[in-house]
Amino acid sequence: MRLSAIACLLVVTCYALPASAFDGHDKFVANCSGCHGENAKGIEGMAPSLYNPELWAKLGDKRNDYIAGVLTSGLSGTLKTSNSSFDGMVMPPQDFIDTADLVAITHYILNEINHVEGGPGPDAVLIDKLKSAPKSHKDLQALRNGD
Ligand code: HEC
Repeated sequence: MRLSAIACLLVVTCYALPASAFDGHDKFVANCSGCHGENAKGIEGMAPSLYNPELWAKLGDKRNDYIAGVLTSGLSGTLKTSNSSFDGMVMPPQDFIDTADLVAITHYILNEINHVEGGPGPDAVLIDKLKSAPKSHKDLQALRNGD
């Protein structure tokens, strides 16, 4: 009786704890990897690498607005990364993806891929807000460039 209760607790803990991390990777593969590559390292001529710790650090407390804004609005314009420049490429808005899945995906990118310190990433409230009032690509570029 007691043993089975402990086993039960263990199972619950094992499933509950890492769920969001695994979830984020799975959701990323399902929705984003066709353009950004399986491990978010980008695909030449298709979409940039999302491994860019300098960018996420530089964005500081604007980070959540930026990543949630890109997901809900998509992005276009010239995009410079540490090793390449993307011009004339368009990312379509991903606002059709469930908010909870977008939360898991952003946490995967910020925490698992980039090991960003200082905050868990966007929450559902922010993503829902941006879904109903999407930012313009111009505003997102300005946010990214620190204008
Ligand atoms: C159809 C291809 C495509 C899909 C699907 C796609 N993206 Fe993108 N993504 C792009 C392109 C292209 C850019 C660069 C846009 C530009 O040059 O302005 C981009 C840019 C980004 C950026 C900005 C990177 C930076 O350095 O500022 C983020 C963040 C991002 N995508 C995340 C995602 C996530 C997360 C998903 C899945 C929910 C996703 N994208 C799905 C093509 C795509």
